[in-house]
Amino acid sequence: MVENLDELEEKIKGCNRCKLCKTRQNIVFGVGNKNAKIMFIGEGPGADEDRLGEPFVGKAGKLMDMAFEAVGIKRQEVYIANIVKCRPPANRNPEDDEAAACMDYLRNQVMIVKPKIIVLLGSVALKNIIGKDYGITASRGKVIEKKQITYIPTWHPAALLRDETKKIDFINDLKLVLSVLNKIEKCGFEAYIVGGYVRDYLLGIKSYDID
Ligand code: URA
Repeated sequence: MVENLDELEEKIKGCNRCKLCKTRQNIVFGVGNKNAKIMFIGEGPGADEDRLGEPFVGKAGKLMDMAFEAVGIKRQEVYIANIVKCRPPANRNPEDDEAAACMDYLRNQVMIVKPKIIVLLGSVALKNIIGKDYGITASRGKVIEKKQITYIPTWHPAALLRDETKKIDFINDLKLVLSVLNKIEKCGFEAYIVGGYVRDYLLGIKSYDID
């Protein structure tokens, strides 16, 4: 594990831990505030991201930016990363071995940024971080505690492009993120770490504990 993002990005350069290195143009490390309170985790870079080396800069990213604006989230204040840092060919889902090979890097990013809430964008992020048995339809818009980290899953922004009706869910989930963050900050770190149930009691948040 390394202690800062620049060092980590340097360490990852030229990574060949999985087969995605053979087809990528750029490693898409992650962007945003190094001390972000909110971190977003997507699936993996698409064609635009692969070309530009930055997450969520294509159509789905533009839609995400619009939703951010609607609820008052500034892209430069949050941190954005993906389950895999290299583009899966033809935008297929990352395979298990690819996600596993990249997970150390993501874990290290989380350790450095120390976000108060992690937003899981879509099913791939949810399944790789919370567990294979979790489905995005049932899990989105819920607060999940795992190993003392607070997660809120929501739709992947690309899903909003295919189904307009999901936009309102997405906005509502972002509002939930802001309200939970507000409560966490009000309650303070001491109370925050006492664990899910006490925290639920103190804050009136209904969260689900998983280990
Ligand atoms: N989709 C993702 O999951 N991540 C990106 O960075 C872009 C599109």
